[in-house]
Amino acid sequence: MLKVIANVIVFLFLSLIVVAGYSVAAEKSAVTYEENVKQIVSEKCLSCHGSDSPTIDEFKKDKEGFEKKMKGPRMDTYENLMIFVDGKDAGALMRRLDDGKNTKDGKPGNMHQRLGKTDSERAAMLKIIKKWVGGWTLKKKAEMTEEDLKAIKALKE
Ligand code: HEC
Repeated sequence: MLKVIANVIVFLFLSLIVVAGYSVAAEKSAVTYEENVKQIVSEKCLSCHGSDSPTIDEFKKDKEGFEKKMKGPRMDTYENLMIFVDGKDAGALMRRLDDGKNTKDGKPGNMHQRLGKTDSERAAMLKIIKKWVGGWTLKKKAEMTEEDLKAIKALKE
């Protein structure tokens, strides 16, 4: 009997070490474009923001025309995606994907629905993208402070 109890204790102790190891690894591993975000964007966004879509400059010249064709500006590479994170159109990704918790009117951004078919899928995708971006701000580029920009991590790899 004592031996059984001792074995159970040893087993529980070892399980604890394994679980702790996993959570440390999960904390340490940063979310990156290559590891996590690329696949989400590819599955959820590139049907309308892919390599056959206009560049942001082309898009701006004929927004209505492209909208009618269900084409948004191109986000097919890390560099093209970053235009909407901390580049020329900084904050656009965050404004469009926010679930309504940070928007002025409390409504989700109009691309939020594209993150998934269910509330829980959308929430899970948003969580990864938020972790990737780091400092989640809905400000426009001109309103962003140096700290806001520094807080945006959005690592490539
Ligand atoms: C069914 C097509 C479609 C899908 C899928 C889609 N978008 Fe869009 N997106 C558009 C269109 C069309 C526009 C331009 C009209 C508008 O501004 O709403 C747009 C605009 C945007 C903008 C604003 C760009 C700007 O002008 O600054 C962002 C950011 C964006 N989308 C991000 C995303 C992300 C991220 C995903 C994937 C989670 C996604 N979209 C999925 C069609 C789509």
